[in-house]
Formats: sequence, C-alpha cells, structure tokens
Amino acid sequence: MKSQTKSIGILTAGGDCPGLNAAIRGVAKAAMHYGIQVHGILDGFRGLVENRSIPLDSRSVSGLLTAGGTLLGTSRDKPHKMRMGSEVMDMTEVAVANMKRMNIDCLVCLGGNGTQKNALRLREATDIGIITLPKTIDNDVACTDVSFGFDSAMRVATEAVDRLHTTATSHHRIIVCEIMGHDAGWLALGAGIAGGADVILIPEIPYDLEIVARHLNNRRKSGKRFSIIAVAEGVRSRDQLALEEADPERKKKKKKSEPEEVFDALTNEGVHLVQESVASRIARRIQTMTGVEARVTALGHVQRGGQPTPYDRLLATRLGTKAGKLLAEGVYDVMVALQGGDTVPVPLKEVACKKKLVPADHPWIESARLVETCFGDEV
Ligand code: F6P
Repeated sequence: MKSQTKSIGILTAGGDCPGLNAAIRGVAKAAMHYGIQVHGILDGFRGLVENRSIPLDSRSVSGLLTAGGTLLGTSRDKPHKMRMGSEVMDMTEVAVANMKRMNIDCLVCLGGNGTQKNALRLREATDIGIITLPKTIDNDVACTDVSFGFDSAMRVATEAVDRLHTTATSHHRIIVCEIMGHDAGWLALGAGIAGGADVILIPEIPYDLEIVARHLNNRRKSGKRFSIIAVAEGVRSRDQLALEEADPERKKKKKKSEPEEVFDALTNEGVHLVQESVASRIARRIQTMTGVEARVTALGHVQRGGQPTPYDRLLATRLGTKAGKLLAEGVYDVMVALQGGDTVPVPLKEVACKKKLVPADHPWIESARLVETCFGDEV
C-alpha cells in the first residue's frame, strides 16, 4: 500500500504509565513499515513548543517493548496555557509553527483525558492531522473499553493489597490502602476486588464512615479481627458532597487552596505543610470509631512505575500498530480505541472532554457487593 502519510511526530503527555514505550514502538515500527518518517518529540507538548525532537528509527525503538516509563519523556504542559519563565502564555501558534517546520502530516499523541482535550484544541488551530492513543492507569478515557497502563497498575495495587492482608491479619489491624484515582475509581475498585479488600471507597460512591465502621465492627463480631480498606485518592463523604452541592464553588476552591504555611525552626523559613492524605484522615477516624488500631499505606507513584504487564504490552502494541495503519490510510483526527476486542478509530471530538467514570450499576460493583464488600453507602 502506498502511504497517504509521509512524516509524523509522536509525543507522550500527562502522567506516565507502563506501556507507553510499547505503544511508541508499535506506532513507530508500523509507520516505518509503511515508509513513514518518525520524529520523537521530547517531554510532551513542552518539547513541541520548544522544538525539541529526535529522529526515531528501527534501532532507537528496539528493546522498548518491556521497558517502563517513556523514552520520550513527558510533561503535563498544555500548548494553550504554558508556563514560560514567570508567565503563563498561549503557545499554540508556536507549537503549530514547529509542526510545520518538522514537515509532519500528523501528530500522534499518547495520553489520558487531558491530552485528548489538548490534542483536539491544537487540531482546531492547524490543518495538520492528529491521532491519539488512550493511556492512563486511571482507565477513565471515554469511548475505549480500557486504556493501557491500567492493567499494570492494577497488578501493583493488587499485590500491595495482598501483602497488606498478611500483616493486617498477624496484627489484627485495620489497614487503609490509598490507591490512585482522583475522579474515577476503576483502579481502587479493580485492585480492591482482586485483592479481597473488605471495604472499597471510590469517588463515584460518596461514603458514610458510620456505615463503614458498622461493617468493620460486624466483621470483628463474626471473628474476623483484621480488615483492609481500599480507598481511591479522590473519594468524598456524603457530608462533603452535601456541602459541595450547597456551595458549588467549594470544590473548586478546595482544589486550588495552598497547603497551610508554618515556620520551620530548623531552617528559619516558612514551609508548606503537606496536606494529610485522605487515607490517613479515614484511618484516624475509623480507629476512633471502632477502637481497633489502624495503619495507612499510600501506594503513590509505585503504581505508575515498572514494566508493563503482558496484557498492556499486547494492548499498547495493538493500538500503536493500528495507528500506524490508519496513518498509512490517511485517517486522522481519531483516537484509536479498544471496543469489544477490536481496535477501532473513534472521532477525537467524541472522546475529548468526556470522562469514563464507574457507573453505579457496573457488574464489578454488583460482584463486589455479593462477596460482602462494603462501599460505605449501605451495610
Ligand atoms: O495519571 C493520572 C494520575 O495517575 C492520577 O491518578 C494521580 O492523581 C496523578 O496521576 C498524579 O500524578 P502526578 O503526581 O504525576 O502529577
């Protein structure tokens, strides 16, 4: 087949995850197969604005399949609102000029929800095509059954819950495990079910700690002297939700608020206190409410590091090579999604600005309730 595309740029944006390198390799190898030239743009949209790129050839993408992180580097910068020195500026025109300078026909962006939005915005300012791939450990990109990175993160989080189980059992403790996910609870839900957490709290189901405490007390009465609580970092209690509904500005203000500043006698400087994690706040209250010793483990970026699982390597390779095929056919302005086992192009406009949250009637939730998992909403 004669390729409709001659040259592309590829970048990774947003938080990294396992599978990015496998996807870069998939796109680049398939593109090269069709005779397409590939430029690797460094550090996401910032590298595009700063005109930093490297040529990718079959040698530079070899050995990438199993490697964690991203060979290209990433950043959370967006072209239309980028910090340049002390100012935040709209750098869209510069990004477009650099794409023209590289003489690319299409920009391939590997990213999560923010990247889908930023890519579409950039597309609206240029005649150069865009193709995106869905990556995120949060699994909240719309229109795809799953994003790469999710399975690898779920393996790490599940192993953590397994390990917490043995030590919680020995010490007869409650352990609260904080799992990533600000708006979507897929990771806490999946790892919580797979690891057999007794309580799973996710942002989509506002919780009541009285209900959680009652569930834990009932477990204890039935002879189970330990409990594991899997908490997504973005959970909200019913009380918080009621306050936010009464004052919609409250949520925004809270997100923007700076941590409290205190005086550090050691350095003679004002320092910002790190805000107490949600898991720690929950553990503190649960300990008081149940009288059982509680501990906290926040998994943090461990969930985003390391090698991709076989599932993610396969998914990233399938999505990447499909992108290569679409490039050869001249199909642009789509995200390559996994739908019902097939890799399919979905118009970028349909994906951007949407988030795939856990529906209340999702089969995972039904299964979890049937194995007596408490979500903090009913006993
Ligand atoms: O990529 C999404 C995510 O993993 C969220 O779940 C998490 O809150 C966030 O990234 C943290 O990323 P960083 O610390 O790199 O900004």
